[in-house]
Amino acid sequence: MANPVTAGSFELIKSIMKLSKQHYGKKTVVFSLLLLIALSGVFLQFKSTPLEYGPVTGKVEAPKEIVAILERSCFNCHSNENDLHWYEKIVPVSWLVNKDIKRAREIMNFSEWDKISRAEHIGKMWAVLNMVKADKMPLANYRILHPGSKVAESEIQTIKKYVLEITENQTAKPGNHGINYHETAGKIAASKNGVIYTDEFKKWKAISSSTLYENSMRVIYGNDIAVKAIEEENFHPWPDGAVVVKAVWEQIRNQYGEVRPGKFINAQFMVKDAARYKDTEGWGFAKFSTPELIPTGKTALFAAQSCIGCHRQLAGETGFLFSVPLKVNPKN
Ligand code: HEC
Ligand code: HEC
Repeated sequence: MANPVTAGSFELIKSIMKLSKQHYGKKTVVFSLLLLIALSGVFLQFKSTPLEYGPVTGKVEAPKEIVAILERSCFNCHSNENDLHWYEKIVPVSWLVNKDIKRAREIMNFSEWDKISRAEHIGKMWAVLNMVKADKMPLANYRILHPGSKVAESEIQTIKKYVLEITENQTAKPGNHGINYHETAGKIAASKNGVIYTDEFKKWKAISSSTLYENSMRVIYGNDIAVKAIEEENFHPWPDGAVVVKAVWEQIRNQYGEVRPGKFINAQFMVKDAARYKDTEGWGFAKFSTPELIPTGKTALFAAQSCIGCHRQLAGETGFLFSVPLKVNPKN
């Protein structure tokens, strides 16, 4: 490695060493020095080919606060715009970085959002939520060089809220790909305990989504009475007329591990009517499963036998509901 550039760098390194010794331990300095020498040696042997950045054909569409998170934490790899450190653009660091960027952009490119469908946008956003929730993105080694790129817990909540919203809007529009609902309200048999299926819940507020497990995705909706009760923390007991619906879809996972809602599986209802559903502690339970939204249960006893058992565990805490949002259920 006795070449002029290395020799030149050596003088520079020596003076850096002198300076940095005053601030850092000797071990750190020696280690950094070895690293620098190794890097500059490699540097001389290869030419750097800069990564090509295509144009921004369609930037990711989302509320400002979501875009800001993505720009700060994800764009360096998942877009055609970058704000990399200078040393990430030169060999050998650039090799490592470029490889990640190439792969990252193949999977998801926030600068080419126009190239994928609306249903895919939602699928990608679910994947984004999953990745940041699992603390898998941004990549751990990237975070060392970009400490500010970590997505904070509050930001994860912001993303979650947004993903729920777009999923909900999607379900409100019949005939959209990705999510298929039955548009057959009124023609569907009532549950044996009298609970009637309604499509209305698609317009209700999503109060929660359960994390993705058992290969399904669940969104939980509440009618106005239920939402108000949650806001006012007035659910001991829940007011009559409150209705909560859990809608369940298959979870489709593609080759990259991205998930999105697939076939509709069922809708589960809990209708509060203290007088009518005395046997099941004031809640009318029902489950309507595809293909024809067939109600579960041969007799009205099914709820006491198959639903209340689990939900009773939450009787004291939340009045029989699992998914009471953050504010009221700190364990959630
Ligand atoms: C240092 C570059 C880098 C950054 C920054 C980065 N990613 Fe990635 N991302 C990758 C790579 C590389 C892959 C492909 C991983 C693989 O091949 O399994 C990937 C894959 C993904 C996937 C697909 C899931 C999978 O397992 O295949 C999602 C979703 C994702 N990233 C989201 C994000 C989000 C959200 C951010 C910002 C919070 C982010 N990434 C930041 C490099 C990055
Ligand atoms: C094995 C336990 C178990 C049984 C049995 C059960 N549930 Fe649930 N239910 C849950 C859990 C856990 C949740 C939380 C949401 C989720 O992750 O799916 C839930 C959520 C719900 C919700 C959304 C409101 C909430 O509590 O979060 C409804 C509505 C619901 N279930 C209806 C039913 C109906 C109707 C039946 C009977 C056909 C039933 N459940 C049987 C465990 C159970």
